[in-house]
Amino acid sequence: MFRMTRYIQSLMQPTPVRPIPKPKGPVVIWNLIRRCNLTCKHCYSISADIDFKGELSTDEVYTVMDDLKDFGVPVLILSGGEPLMRPDIFDISERARDMGFYVGLSTNGTLIDETNIDRIARAGYDYVGISIDGLEKTHDDFRQKQGAFAASMKAVRLCKQAGIKVGLRFTLTQDNFPQLPDILALLDEHDIDKFYLSHLNYSGRGGRNRKRDAWYDMTREAMNLLFDHCHDELKRGIHREYVTGNNDADAPFLLQWAKKHYPNQVPALAQRLRFWGGNASGVNIANIDNLGVVHPDTFWWNYDLGNVRDKPFSRIWSEASDDLMLGFRQSPRPVKGRCADCRYLAICNGNTRVRAYSVSGDFWEEDPGCYLTNDEIGVVDIPRRVAAPAIEIPVNNL
Ligand SMILES: C[S@@+](CC[C@H](N)C(=O)[O-])C[C@H]1O[C@@H](n2cnc3c(N)ncnc32)[C@H](O)[C@@H]1O
Ligand code: SF4
Repeated sequence: MFRMTRYIQSLMQPTPVRPIPKPKGPVVIWNLIRRCNLTCKHCYSISADIDFKGELSTDEVYTVMDDLKDFGVPVLILSGGEPLMRPDIFDISERARDMGFYVGLSTNGTLIDETNIDRIARAGYDYVGISIDGLEKTHDDFRQKQGAFAASMKAVRLCKQAGIKVGLRFTLTQDNFPQLPDILALLDEHDIDKFYLSHLNYSGRGGRNRKRDAWYDMTREAMNLLFDHCHDELKRGIHREYVTGNNDADAPFLLQWAKKHYPNQVPALAQRLRFWGGNASGVNIANIDNLGVVHPDTFWWNYDLGNVRDKPFSRIWSEASDDLMLGFRQSPRPVKGRCADCRYLAICNGNTRVRAYSVSGDFWEEDPGCYLTNDEIGVVDIPRRVAAPAIEIPVNNL
C-alpha cells in the first residue's frame, strides 16, 4: 500500500528522513468467507452467492487469531467474499479489537442498513472500507447488481453518522477512468475520510477480464489527477487520506510529479520511498483464505503455502522456503526484463508479481502493469514483452 498523502505532505513540510519501523509480523488480510451477494467482474476471490464448504469455524478463527497475536501481527483486515454474510463476524471483530489488533472491515456495503449500523459501530472497527467502482450505472454494471451503488452510498452515510472512519475503495479500469473526478467530488460531499485507488490485479475474474484494465495513459492521468487533488486539499488544510494499491510504480511516478512541483525535495523523497520499499507481498503482507490456506497476499489464491488447520500460521510463514517466497524475501527480488534494469527497483521492489505470472507464467517476469516509460525508468532497447494468453484459474466456472 502506497500512502500518497504522507509523501505529498513530506514535500510540503519536510521532516527528517528516517527508516520506517517494520512490525514483527505481517499485516494479515483475512478472507473469512467466500460467499458474496454480488458477483463483480474483477473479483479475485471469484465469489458468488453460494455456500462454500469447509470454511474455518469460529473456534478455529480464534485459535488462529491467538497465534497471529503472539507472532506480532499488527493489523487484521477482515474481508471476503462479503464478510458481513458471516453470522459470527461481530464476535470475531470484537475479539480481534479486544486483543489489540488494528481491525479493518473490507465490505461492499450493500448489507449495511438501519438494522445493523449500531451493531457495526459497537464492533469498534478502526476503519471500514466500502467499494465504489464508478458512478451509479458503471458501478452497478461492474458489480452486476442493480441498486448496488445506492445501497453502498447509503452505507457510507450511515457509517459517517455513526462516527465510523470510512473510506471508498475504487478499482481503476477503462470503464470508470472518466468518472474519477466525480468520484473524488463524492469524498467532499460526504466528508469521507479516506480514498483507496486500487489498480486492477490479474487474478480470479480480474485475470479473465484484464483486457478492461486501464491503459497506461489513463493510469498516468488518473495518478496525476490524484496527486494534484491530494496536494490541493492539503494546501487547503484538508487532511483526507489517499492511498493506492497493487501498482508500486505509483511511488516512482510521484517522484516524477515532485520533479515539477518540489524539485529541491526530490532526493529526500527518493530516500523516503526507498525506506518504504515498495511491494510487500510475502514479507509484510499475508493472506489467509476462507478454508484456512495461507497465501503470500490476497491475489495469490492459486498459490498455497500451507493450511492453518495443519500448522500454525506463524510456522507456515516463518518456514516458507518455496521459490516464490524465497524470491519475495530476497533483495533485490530476482525480477527480469524491464524490472531488472529499472532505476527504481529499490523503490517499487518489482511491483506486482501476480500480473507478471498471469501474462507470462513466470513469477519473475516484468510486471505488465508498470505504466512508466523506458525513459523514466532509465532503460534503453528493452521493448515490453508480448503478453501471453492469461492463465485461467478454474474455480467451479464462477
Ligand atoms: C474481494 S473484495 C471483498 C470485500 C467486499 N466484498 C468488497 O467487494 O469490498 C476486497 C476488495 O478487493 C477489490 N478487488 C477484488 N478483485 C480485485 C482485483 N482483481 N484487482 C484489484 N482489486 C480487486 C474489491 O473491489 C474490494 O475493494
Ligand atoms: S469484489 Fe467483493 S463484492 Fe464483489 S464479488 Fe468479490 S467479494 Fe463480492
